[in-house]
Amino acid sequence: MSVIKQHEVYKNFYHIFHPLVAGKLSLLRQKQTDHKLFRELVHEITLLLGYEATQNLSTTDIEIETPMERCLSPFLAGPSPVILPILRAGVGMVDALLTLMPSAKVGHIGLFRNEKTLQPEGYYFKIPEDSDQRHFYVCDPMLATGGSAIRAVSTLKKHKVKSITFICVLAAPEGLKAFFEEHPDVTIYSASLDRSLNSKGYICPGLGDAGDRMFGTL
Ligand code: PRP
Ligand code: URA
Repeated sequence: MSVIKQHEVYKNFYHIFHPLVAGKLSLLRQKQTDHKLFRELVHEITLLLGYEATQNLSTTDIEIETPMERCLSPFLAGPSPVILPILRAGVGMVDALLTLMPSAKVGHIGLFRNEKTLQPEGYYFKIPEDSDQRHFYVCDPMLATGGSAIRAVSTLKKHKVKSITFICVLAAPEGLKAFFEEHPDVTIYSASLDRSLNSKGYICPGLGDAGDRMFGTL
C-alpha cells in the first residue's frame, strides 16, 4: 500500500499515510504533550515528510571507486535548495530538513496572523541573492486559512523564485482551497488534512497554537 496519497481534487496536495507519521501526529495533538516532546515530534515528523517531499531532487552520475571496482553513482545535482521556515513555528522543521539536505541554504520569513482579521502581517524576509536559480522548501506546521502560506509563496514569486514545495504537518480544507486558487503550481506535502477551521480560524481537531506549544509560550 502506498504511504502517499494524491488528493482527488487538488492534484498537487500529497497526504502522507504512514504508521510512524500517524502515531507521532497523535502524540503531537494531545494537549498534555509538553514543549520538549512537541519539538521532538515535529522534528521526527518532518524527517518523514521531508523524505517524500524531496523525491524530485535531481541527481547526476559521477564515477567513484568502491573497494571492489569503479562505477557510476548518483550525487545530488544543481544549486543547493533553500529551506524557508515561516517564523515562528516553521523554525521547528528546519533541523530535520537540514539533516536530509545538509548543503541547503536557509532563508527566513517572519509572518504572524492578526488575531482579528486572520490576515498575515509580515515583519522579516531574507533569502539568498541567487534564489531564482534554486528550489525552495517552505515549511510551517500549520496551513489553516492558508493566508500565511499564500503570502510566503507570493513573496518568493515576487523575488523570481520559480520552483517551490510547501511542507506542513496539518492542513485545513479551507486553507487548501484558498492556497491552490492562488498557487496551483506549488506542491504541498502534509501529514494530515483535518476536518475544518473553527470560528477563530483554528484547525480542528488540530493541535492548538503551534508556535506557543513548540516554544512553551502558552
Ligand atoms: C501560525 C502558524 C502559521 C499560521 C497559519 O502562526 O505557524 O504560520 O498560524 O495560519 P493561517 O494559515 O491562517 O495563516 P502564527 O500566525 O500564530 O504566528 P507565530 O508562529 O509567530 O505564533
Ligand atoms: N495557527 C496555529 O498555530 N494553529 C491553528 O490551528 C491555526 C493557525
